[in-house]
Amino acid sequence: MSILTTVPARPQSAFRPRQVQILLTERCNLRCRHCAVPEEDSPADRELDMPAWRRFVQRCVEGGVRSLVFSGGEALLRPDAVELAAYAHEVGAERTTLVTNGLLFRGDIPGRIASAQAQHPAFGVHVSIDGASPRTHDWMRGEGTFRRTMRAIDRLQAAGGRITGLHTVLHQGNAHEVSDCADLAGRLGAEVWTVFPLADLGRAHGIMDRRLDEPAWRSLIARIIEVSRERPFTVSVMGPVYGDEWPASAGEVPRPRAEHALQTCVGPDGVVFNCPPLRDHPVGSAAEATGPGGWTRLADRAGEQLLASCGTCKFLLLCAGLDLTRPYQPRAKDRPRAMPPLAGAG
Ligand SMILES: C[S@@+](CC[C@H](N)C(=O)[O-])C[C@H]1O[C@@H](n2cnc3c(N)ncnc32)[C@H](O)[C@@H]1O
Ligand code: SF4
Repeated sequence: MSILTTVPARPQSAFRPRQVQILLTERCNLRCRHCAVPEEDSPADRELDMPAWRRFVQRCVEGGVRSLVFSGGEALLRPDAVELAAYAHEVGAERTTLVTNGLLFRGDIPGRIASAQAQHPAFGVHVSIDGASPRTHDWMRGEGTFRRTMRAIDRLQAAGGRITGLHTVLHQGNAHEVSDCADLAGRLGAEVWTVFPLADLGRAHGIMDRRLDEPAWRSLIARIIEVSRERPFTVSVMGPVYGDEWPASAGEVPRPRAEHALQTCVGPDGVVFNCPPLRDHPVGSAAEATGPGGWTRLADRAGEQLLASCGTCKFLLLCAGLDLTRPYQPRAKDRPRAMPPLAGAG
């Protein structure tokens, strides 16, 4: 794939990503209805090999990245995903997170995760559960997947491994299970439960009639705030989408947790891009980042693009998350600006 460096480098940019999300593969063993990355048939031979990923990971950490997320597709289809996360800790990463559908916790994988977590306690494993029952989860992820995922988690825990987080995409068909999902997160020992809206990306386009509207989000967020007070773990809300589930024209919007996400993504072939909506506007390549001065140039371009895009991006709440301590407090600058009058208009 050609690398479009659409944003010129500006050395004075102070942006340095604190987190890099590595999509090790886009291949997957599932075909979820909502998948934002529906590239399951992409060939493995376009994926970077482990020596290349190790060089990139080391360079990221030297460049100030503190947290690496290994995702996909299904990251565990790459045999060395666990060792790569452990390697990131060896070269100085403070936190790593493997995001997985969990079904591949079998064979020697549970034992390998358990020993990596014993050595590196900040090696996290987040599993996606799209409902607290087979009916809701399987609707999204396929017949039998709820029970298979629960059995797989049992195998991981029996080997001494830990689930540190759950991910749940909320929509009309599972929003009634918020408390049950939180109970499940508690039973599985999660430290964080992250909820997402259904984002209109990839295959989710076909199920957008299930998305939650603004009143539904308001009552759901109120419920989530209650749930988070009652539970010992953190509930993280990656919020609704401006102008879509949550019309910014209403003049009152929830607060993003951050101005923009200090995160950059890398595809399986090493293409670096800021986030899924900017996938077609890459800022460089993993190979470039490992050359002299490469990381700084790449981070500068990524920062310039984020500063130019995040403020008006309808996905901002989805990637930066909601600040639940200050919800629904509009600030003047968040209100939609009136169009300036057209010259000559009477
Ligand atoms: C793309 S998946 C990759 C990791 C792994 N295969 C899994 O399903 O957990 C990463 C996360 O994105 C979520 N996700 C996928 N499509 C989405 C969409 N259209 N909107 C919101 N979240 C989505 C998944 O539920 C999962 O928690
Ligand atoms: S959401 Fe995850 S498990 Fe489901 S198809 Fe996409 S990558 Fe695979």
